[in-house]
Amino acid sequence: MYDDLTLLSGRAHPALAAEIAEYLSIPLGRVILGNFPDGEISLRLEQNIRGADVFIVQPTGPPVNDSLMELLILIDACQRASADRITAVIPYFGYARQDRKDAGRVPVTAKLVANLITKAGADRVLAMDLHAAQIQGFFDVPVDHLYAAPTLDEYFLSLKIPPDDIVIVSPDEGSIKRSLQHLERLGGRLAIVDKRRASAMKTSQANLIGGPLDGKLALLFDDMISTGGSIVGAVEIARRHGAREVYVSASHPVLCGPATARLREAEIREVVVTNSLPLRDDQKFPNLRIVTIAPLLGEAIRRIHRNESVSYLFD
Ligand code: R5P
Repeated sequence: MYDDLTLLSGRAHPALAAEIAEYLSIPLGRVILGNFPDGEISLRLEQNIRGADVFIVQPTGPPVNDSLMELLILIDACQRASADRITAVIPYFGYARQDRKDAGRVPVTAKLVANLITKAGADRVLAMDLHAAQIQGFFDVPVDHLYAAPTLDEYFLSLKIPPDDIVIVSPDEGSIKRSLQHLERLGGRLAIVDKRRASAMKTSQANLIGGPLDGKLALLFDDMISTGGSIVGAVEIARRHGAREVYVSASHPVLCGPATARLREAEIREVVVTNSLPLRDDQKFPNLRIVTIAPLLGEAIRRIHRNESVSYLFD
């Protein structure tokens, strides 16, 4: 029991917040959230948080703007209610993919959002699998950056796949480092899909570096599945190059637009994701497996509250 630890949830993912509260054996803080007739967010903290160590659980996934605005308003309310320290717990950090000026006259939204969260009054951030690790540096407050990989690998290890039957297929060049980390835990060898992005909605994949896959089992890990274009394209390449079976895994199931239909139709044995984002029933399908990151986040919160190291959680 922690006297001054207060766990609050926005409306983005109350089920995850409830699981974290259960892990910590504390009740969720009482906050009433609603909307004014014009759509603006209304909020009232129903308990005294003066001097408390407050953690606000709110992934900023779809509807991205509503989730983000609600997080900012929650932080503001906690700050004005004299919380001692406010940690924004953001299991999925939206707007992360625009993290540099890769064309003329475009915004860097990852930095803008980091500024907004800090300006609103967050003293710390607890994030998981940021699209690019350097986004940590966009915040002028401490960031603890967790990885879902050990939790996902626990599931794959439970399948007892012989390492010499595994090829970890990196769905693009940007995922090579992640793929190598999985390879260290699961064994196997590495292959890389040559992916080129034509626009936010369109990618093209043609070649496989490190093929053929000789009837092996392909495991594909990405940070997120958004429209499903990247991962389903990579699955097709893996099959075309001789994979016997394909498993797909991602930390963040954004699953927007055609994603669910694409994943349903693709030749995939299982799609393994975390619960960093909530999924509606119509986003789910029979071979979707959701592994929980509540213990990971709960343990990180416990350690941050007690000023203990969180790096222990990386293994
Ligand atoms: C790309 O850099 C990311 O790691 C993901 O591969 C990508 O954002 C997924 O988007 P989609 O599912 O729309 O292809």
